[in-house]
Amino acid sequence: MQSIEKEAAIAQEYLAKVSVEAERKFDVYLPSEKDRPCRLHEAMRYSMFAGGKRLRPALVKSTFDMFGGKGESVWLAMSALEMLHTFSLIHDDLPCVDNDDFRRGKLTSHKKFGEATAVMAGDALCVLAFELMGKTGNAQAIEILAHLLGTFGMIGGEMTDIECEGKPVDLEIVDYIHYHKTAALIEASLQVGAMLAGASDADIQKIRNYGRSIGLAFQIVDDILDIVSTTEELGKDAGSDVEKGKATYPALVGLDKSREKAKELYEESIRALDGLSCDTGILRAIAAFIITRVN
Ligand code: IPE
Ligand code: IPE
Ligand code: MG
Ligand code: MG
Ligand code: MG
Repeated sequence: MQSIEKEAAIAQEYLAKVSVEAERKFDVYLPSEKDRPCRLHEAMRYSMFAGGKRLRPALVKSTFDMFGGKGESVWLAMSALEMLHTFSLIHDDLPCVDNDDFRRGKLTSHKKFGEATAVMAGDALCVLAFELMGKTGNAQAIEILAHLLGTFGMIGGEMTDIECEGKPVDLEIVDYIHYHKTAALIEASLQVGAMLAGASDADIQKIRNYGRSIGLAFQIVDDILDIVSTTEELGKDAGSDVEKGKATYPALVGLDKSREKAKELYEESIRALDGLSCDTGILRAIAAFIITRVN
């Protein structure tokens, strides 16, 4: 077992490599700025190419490869997951949701293009993602993705996040929000990759458990970074959660206990991989990256 920092460095190298390949595919699948409606296509591309860690495509690819998947469907799914994630970010930043000005080191979509275009760029990315998933021909993967994105997944979490702003909440609600708004798409990325590779139900269950643990850890670290980091380091508005009275882990249990919880979830995620007969090295590295990341 290597140190957590060494594990995280392996993940960073993997993410960098996957990003380059994935971005070439995004360019192919996204509509051209030269085609009408040009401004909408420009806005879709602006947010998709603003940077970002490309964690979700990397999760799709790592499980697909781990379970011996073959063929082009993985690139479709990787692009779909990053489009869905980008859609969630564009809408999350809107004035009627989190009202933030910076994302991925640039102005948010609505600041750059106006609210109407930002709403439609998010919608169009969501719809395009399902068009790409349709091309994989895997109906079950599409159904699971839709479920984990919808009211019982990311959108449900975002709704509850807004409803709880400025209100007293308990840990049960914060866990609900975090599992839904963030862990669901992380779990979906892993599950879709595994399903496209034809993994067994038992193996998929282990991967899902891993995803739930790293997904919750991911959002707790996001909450911590919102407090301890700067807008320059994060590429998005720091201090945004406190300003809005968001239901976060640090708000409820403080920074130290939040860090302890993220570490516990990391250990839980590693245990969830026990019993898988394939090489889980990249997933272990990604879990380490998630709890040590600085942006
Ligand atoms: C930000 O996600 C939104 C959350 C779920 C906390 P990321 O931190 O993965 O954002 P990018 O893709 O790297 O910009
Ligand atoms: C949002 O959580 C997660 C999404 C579904 C986009 P946050 O509101 O904490 O994400 P950031 O901090 O704006 O990236
Ligand atoms: Mg939010
Ligand atoms: Mg936000
Ligand atoms: Mg946040």
